[in-house]
Amino acid sequence: MKNNPLPRLDRANDLREKLLPHCRIGFGEIWEDPEGRHRIGCLDAADKSCVEKLMAGEKAVLAIHDPPYNLIAFEERSIEEFINWCFKWINNTGAILDDDSSLYVWLGADQNSDFQPLPDFMIMMRGMESFKSRSFITLRNQRGYGTCKNWMAVRQELLYYTRGTPFFEVQYTDIPKTLKGYYKEVAGKVTGNIERSKSDCIRSSNVWVDVQQIFYRMKENVSCCYTQKPLKSIDRIVLASSQPEDRVVDFFSHSGSTLISCEGLGRKCNTMDIDPVYCEIAIRRLERFRKTGLQGWQNSNPFEDIDEFSGLSDDSEK
Ligand SMILES: C[S@@+](CC[C@H](N)C(=O)[O-])C[C@H]1O[C@@H](n2cnc3c(N)ncnc32)[C@H](O)[C@@H]1O
Repeated sequence: MKNNPLPRLDRANDLREKLLPHCRIGFGEIWEDPEGRHRIGCLDAADKSCVEKLMAGEKAVLAIHDPPYNLIAFEERSIEEFINWCFKWINNTGAILDDDSSLYVWLGADQNSDFQPLPDFMIMMRGMESFKSRSFITLRNQRGYGTCKNWMAVRQELLYYTRGTPFFEVQYTDIPKTLKGYYKEVAGKVTGNIERSKSDCIRSSNVWVDVQQIFYRMKENVSCCYTQKPLKSIDRIVLASSQPEDRVVDFFSHSGSTLISCEGLGRKCNTMDIDPVYCEIAIRRLERFRKTGLQGWQNSNPFEDIDEFSGLSDDSEK
């Protein structure tokens, strides 16, 4: 295994400056996929004209957004400012989603600060008539944070909203069904849960305990992207709420997880990030995936081909 990761970029401004000259697009520009499937924009999700530019008149059936949570990584603002900002990109999402569509939003809750911004965001969404709440999913991280004087924090929250009557297909975990029971009479015959089931594994619920959090040994790891989501979780959303050739949007690309999931599952993806370095990382990740089938750089980094970045050591806490 190669060992030349980059530190987390959101905390390494010097490194970010060095990477900028290697970025193919700058703010306001779009990378057009030579295969004509995806679009990656260096754009601002809160700006209506940027979102229109990304979509080029197309609509999507699924949005998967993972904004900065207003805690730990990236900039922190007052809760009012943060929610006003969320209102803008949610409105922009509403304008480019189909009449029958799904919206998923990853968000955090700061236990040291009245659990902001999760409840504030939920209340803001209540005012959005065009979206109906459908589920409140929790993904369980393996690695937690916190002191020995509190419960270890391992949650990642995922909100699911719909508009109209979108496609939805039940997903199954890799966890085998072991408990027999839940007997019910079907067509005059008493059947158990295993007989009735469409799968030998348990159905995915609104608590996901079977998704491995990203860490450096995983092939999909993109070392400098601290807030990268596991592909297994994105694949689950994409499979449940879209069909092959459907268009999916993600306004907060970062490492490009939604893009890679869409490429692997035959969907089209329009994605953006406000930072050209993350746009370049997403482009490189897609190119690498197409060329090698690899979903990330494991313990190396997206710029390993450039001498200057081929041997840096990672002093981040990841
Ligand atoms: C939490 S990360 C997304 C992680 C992503 N789901 C992944 O798996 O890699 C949030 C990203 O949003 C980007 N961002 C912040 N403000 C933005 C804005 N106004 N418009 C577009 N992107 C923005 C940040 O640069 C960061 O890369």
